Amino acid sequence: MSEKKKRPVSKSKTQDLLERRAKAEAGGGPERAAAQRAQGKLTARERIALLIDDGSFEETDLLVETRATDFGLDQKSLPADGVVTGSAKINGRPVCVYAQDFTVLGGSLGLAHAMKICKVMDLAVAAGVPVIGLCDSGGARIQEGVESLGGYAEIFFRNVQASGYVPQISAILGPCAGGAVYSPALTDFVFMIEGTSHMFITGPEVVKAATGETCDFESLGGAQTHAQRSGVCHFVAGSEQDCFRQIRELLDYLPQNCREAPKAAMASDDPRRESDLLERVGELDAAKPYKIHDVIREISDGHQFLEVHKRFAPNLVCGFLRLDGEPVGVVANNPQSLSGALDIDASEKGARFVNFCDAFNVPLLTLVDVPGYWPGMEQEHGGIIRRGAKLLYAYARATVPKVTVVLRKAYGGAYDVMSSKHVRGDLNYAWPCAEIAVMGPQGAVSILYKAELKAAKDPAKRRAELVAGYVETFASPFQAAKRGYIDEVIEARKTRPKVIRAFRFLKGKKVQRLPKKHGNIPL
Ligand code: HXC
Repeated sequence: MSEKKKRPVSKSKTQDLLERRAKAEAGGGPERAAAQRAQGKLTARERIALLIDDGSFEETDLLVETRATDFGLDQKSLPADGVVTGSAKINGRPVCVYAQDFTVLGGSLGLAHAMKICKVMDLAVAAGVPVIGLCDSGGARIQEGVESLGGYAEIFFRNVQASGYVPQISAILGPCAGGAVYSPALTDFVFMIEGTSHMFITGPEVVKAATGETCDFESLGGAQTHAQRSGVCHFVAGSEQDCFRQIRELLDYLPQNCREAPKAAMASDDPRRESDLLERVGELDAAKPYKIHDVIREISDGHQFLEVHKRFAPNLVCGFLRLDGEPVGVVANNPQSLSGALDIDASEKGARFVNFCDAFNVPLLTLVDVPGYWPGMEQEHGGIIRRGAKLLYAYARATVPKVTVVLRKAYGGAYDVMSSKHVRGDLNYAWPCAEIAVMGPQGAVSILYKAELKAAKDPAKRRAELVAGYVETFASPFQAAKRGYIDEVIEARKTRPKVIRAFRFLKGKKVQRLPKKHGNIPL
């Protein structure tokens, strides 16, 4: 028998696959991962693992590599091209997710990286599931030139196509510079981390060169800046873990896509629960502020409330709660900030929230206590007419069930805007202490009785009499109730059972809009 020829030992195909996988999964390697952690940041894979339900990640395109060759890219190893993509489950429901990997060339976005993101976005739209982007990137990969710019634009285009179709969420977990900020800006909700997230169009050095202003990453585009001043950021987290917990909480209020209703939870609270606290607020002196958050929590199941845009335009509070298990979006004037008046920021904040709820079938509860629009040169010159009109437009366009409660003041144009009957509030209630009028008693008396007050022997006494007369006639809900502009004046303590019954009744609401391409919201 001839001696068997000795074959070279070749690894099995499976072994080869496992090795390729391991190499790609290692990202930029242990040293860069350590550097990432030293900055208080997690790696892309650690982030996904914390965000999703255990063991639910199905990765796509792990083995994708760049085909770029310029500037020595063909000599570099860029595992997974710097982004981890795939599908997973959150709270038991499917989502698509991508996480940029800063350990691979600073998470910079080349064409292959962009196409991986585009692929999961396309999958999300096809499957009708939310997309969550975890951003941590030095921006367009300089070595790939215009292909990186094209890659970004492909993502932007998909953000717009998916807008209003599936919920889109962005978490900024590191730098986000240049045009890269526009993908998060096009999504529904932006999360940032205190101290480690930064968003800006041009960095501090360019700002210094162009305008002479001195700033650093934090003051220019940190979480606090964007949450409070620019309004770019909707949710701030103290840590990445906290951020992922908040994303999971938010998703629980949302439907998977625009064809579904949001997910109802098991009812956890008595739908007939009445409230002493609301009764007391209803009996307060009209000039005394109260905490609108307490009112919202008192109405909500289990006193739970997820506030959106908490630090921006605090004069208008927006967020999600549950009523008898069903998610509802709430918009409420806050008398503790600008006396609850509407200004530019509040109008834009409210409009965006109302638009979101309408797009995703989340019914709207509006709690009104508004003395009017905030006056002043700054507001007028800043465009309160154009920008304030957005909230009006959003409410008038919204076709989801709309239930309104006038708690106290509803004056002037702000009465109309805040989901009044005239912009098609479905069921509009008022507390007995509500004042629905063109303006407050003092202002009205000053205008109506200008000459008489001037001529009066004792102007202060006469003013008090006239104010009392105005309050008696106009500063009540009954003028509006007489005309059917308010469907019912309700006892404050019964607000929760009342609005729960209203939303139950409105569940089957369907509205046909006029056939048109789209409206032209003031921008
Ligand atoms: C290629 C990049 C990169 C980029 C970072 N890197 N940004 N490579 N293209 N845009 C690489 C670095 O060379 C480095 O590689 C590694 O990533 C880590 O970066 P460091 O600078 O060492 O990290 P750090 O000190 O933490 O600074 C992070 C940073 C900084 C603040 C993001 O890297 C930075 O300023 N990058 C440029 C940001 C920027 O201006 N991007 C372009 C924006 S314009 P090595 O191999 O040395 O470790 C844009 C246009 C989009 O994005 C347009 C869409 C319409």
